[in-house]
Amino acid sequence: MRALVAEAATGTGTGTGTAPAADAPVTVGFVPTMGALHDGHASLVRRARAENDVVVASIFVNPLQFGDPADLEHYPRTLEADLDLLGAAGADLAFAPEVQEMYPGYPDAPIVTVSAGRMGEVLEGASRPGHFDGVATVVAKLWNIVGPAAPVLRSYFGQKDAQQVAVLRRVARDLDVAVDVRSVPIVRSPEGLALSSRNTRLDAEGLERALVLSRALRLLADASAAGRPVDVEAARAMVRDEPGVELDHLVVVDPETLQELGPDTLGGPLRREALALVAAHVPPVRLIDNMVLPAAAG
Ligand code: PAF
Repeated sequence: MRALVAEAATGTGTGTGTAPAADAPVTVGFVPTMGALHDGHASLVRRARAENDVVVASIFVNPLQFGDPADLEHYPRTLEADLDLLGAAGADLAFAPEVQEMYPGYPDAPIVTVSAGRMGEVLEGASRPGHFDGVATVVAKLWNIVGPAAPVLRSYFGQKDAQQVAVLRRVARDLDVAVDVRSVPIVRSPEGLALSSRNTRLDAEGLERALVLSRALRLLADASAAGRPVDVEAARAMVRDEPGVELDHLVVVDPETLQELGPDTLGGPLRREALALVAAHVPPVRLIDNMVLPAAAG
């Protein structure tokens, strides 16, 4: 691992200037990434920095989660800039292994992998077969690599990729990995658009049209907060009626299992928190967004 601050390399400090007492539990905040880092990643590292004694980030372009070999080959690799960003955001250590270190014998290995099961086959997984199995496998391995050095391990992911967060929570739970999976809220523009590097490919009209996604999710969140029925069809119609926006899916799911909730659950006040997810094409990009639907009060 590469030390990003001197005291982390010697184990004599925390990166915040206050060394933990010898008997204090050491919390490690771990941020897995595939590099090509931007401010969204920096916010994960900053959150980990604020909540932990030591912050570790990994940079690894994981071949198991790419369906198309050309996408893997063209994935941007910007290691030096990434290390600068991680250091500036407060990471102590960066782990940037080679493919053969992570998967000795690749591509004939790994033979044993983690399956995300049906949670990996729905929604984003429907158009990316094997993607979430690849994510589950690499993150389980990374937790196993970082975990033994961490009395308390917390791992940070962006809530924008809600399906990834749900799958990884399930990996931790079903495989008994001692890790606390924490999601960092979506950052939105003042108008409500979820920030994404893809937004830079939209012109002014596209940016305006894309706002319909958060408006549709907000419609559902406001209804659930007020104890009213959650009208998914009305939200879908709102997106479909927006010129230049092609709806892929808009569904309300159980946040733990990603199972779609039907009219039985959505027709009255929500008893438990739910998650609304949307994906749509706003040419030339495909955008995703999601919002938590709170349970009705009382
Ligand atoms: O979200 C990502 O960048 C990747 O899917 C992750 C979690 C680092 C696993 O490779």
